[in-house]
Amino acid sequence: MLNIKLNKETYQITPQQRTRPPVVHHFWRIAIIFALLLGFPSGIYLWLYINHQLDELSGYTFLLSVHSTIQLLGFFGLFILGFLYTAGYHLNGGSPRPIKHITWVLPALITGIILKLYPPTEVIGNSFITLAFGFTGYVMLVAAKEGGFSRPAHSTLTLLGLITFSVAPWLNLLDPHIVLYVVLGGPVLFVLLAGLQLIFNVMKGSKLEGLPSSTFAIQITIAYTLLTVHTFVKPVALYFISLSFLLPVVYYIVKVRLISGIKYCGPTSLALAFILGFSWLITSLLLLAIHGGFFMENTIHLIVLGQISTHILAVGSRVIGFFSGEYVIAEEKLIGLILFWQIVPVTRGLDILLDFPYFTSWITSAVTGIVFVLWSFLMFAKIRKV
Ligand code: HEM
Repeated sequence: MLNIKLNKETYQITPQQRTRPPVVHHFWRIAIIFALLLGFPSGIYLWLYINHQLDELSGYTFLLSVHSTIQLLGFFGLFILGFLYTAGYHLNGGSPRPIKHITWVLPALITGIILKLYPPTEVIGNSFITLAFGFTGYVMLVAAKEGGFSRPAHSTLTLLGLITFSVAPWLNLLDPHIVLYVVLGGPVLFVLLAGLQLIFNVMKGSKLEGLPSSTFAIQITIAYTLLTVHTFVKPVALYFISLSFLLPVVYYIVKVRLISGIKYCGPTSLALAFILGFSWLITSLLLLAIHGGFFMENTIHLIVLGQISTHILAVGSRVIGFFSGEYVIAEEKLIGLILFWQIVPVTRGLDILLDFPYFTSWITSAVTGIVFVLWSFLMFAKIRKV
C-alpha cells in the first residue's frame, strides 16, 4: 500500500509521493549512523594519533580498516544507493522497479559491511556487498535498456561507478593507490551523475545529450580504463591518469554550462557546493599530475572531504527538505556550515603540502565533529517526517 503523507506546511502531496513512496531516507539514515558512530570518530582518532596528540593506540590497522570500510562503503555507498533507487531509473531513461523487488538490498548491504569488519566472516560480508551493488548495476542496466541506451553519459557513469563499488570490498582499502581507483571510479562519478540532473533541472544549465553525451561517455571510459590498468595491471604515470580525468571533467563543465548555471542560481548552497566540489577535484587531479603519488593519502582526503562530503552536505539537505516538505536547515545557515566545513579538507588534505603544525589536527577534529554532528541531527529530525 502506498502510504501517502501530507506536507505539513502546505498540505500538499509532494510529486514524488504521488507516484511511489520515497526510499531515499531509509538508505541515508543508516549512512549517517555509520559515519557518525564509526567512520568519522575513527578518522579523528587516527588523525590525532598520527599527529602525536595521543600516546597509546593498539589495533591501528583494525581501526584504519573500520574507518576506510565504513566511510567508503557504508557512508558513500549507502548515500549513492539511496540516490540511485530514487533518481537512477529515470536518469538512465527507464521507469522505477516496484519497491518490493529492492527491499532486500539495504539489509544485505548493512549485513555485508558488519560481517566484513570481522575477519572470519569477511568473505561472506564481501559477497553480500558485491551482491547489493552488483544487483543495483543490473537494475540500472535494465533501466538504460528500457530507455534504448539513449543517455550514454548517464549510463556510463552509473555502470562504471557500480562496477567499482562491486569490486571494492575485495580490494585492499588501506592502500592509498587502490583507494584512488575506488574514489575516482566510484563516488566521484556519482557526483558527476547527480550534477547532470541538478545542473539542468535546478540551475538551468544545459542537458548533456546527443553527441556531447557520447563524447563524454567515451572520454570517461578511457580515463576509467587507464586508471584500472594503472591499479591492477601495470602502473601508468600518474600525470597521465590525472590528465585523462581532467579532460572529461573540463568538457563536462563546459557542456552542461555550469558557470552560467552558477550565475543563474546566485549565492546558494547548491552553487557553492559545485564551485567548491569542482575546485577540490581539479586541485587534487593537478596535485596528482605534479607530485605523483607522493601526497596520495592527502589527495584522497581532499577529494572525499572537499568534493564528495561537501556535495553530501548540500544535496542531502536539499533532497530531504524536498521529501519532508520542510527545510533541513535554513539556506544561509547551510551556506555557513558548508564554508565552515572547508576547514576539514584544508587541514586534513593539504596538511603535508602546507606543513601545518601537529596541533592543527585538533582543529580538523573539532570542525569535523561539530559540523557532522549538527548536520546529522538536523537531517534525522526531518528524515522522521518523510
Ligand atoms: C568521508 C570522509 C572520509 C573518507 C571516505 C576517508 C577514507 C579513508 C581511507 C579509504 C583511508 C585508508 C587509505 C588511506 O590511507 O588513504 C583513510 C585513512 C585515514 N583517514 Fe580518512 N576518510 C575520511 C575522513 C577522514 C577524516 C575527517 C579524518 C580526520 C579527521 C580522517 C583521517 C584519516 C587518517 C588519520 C587515516 C590514516 C592515514 C595513514 O595511515 O597514513 N579521515 N581514510
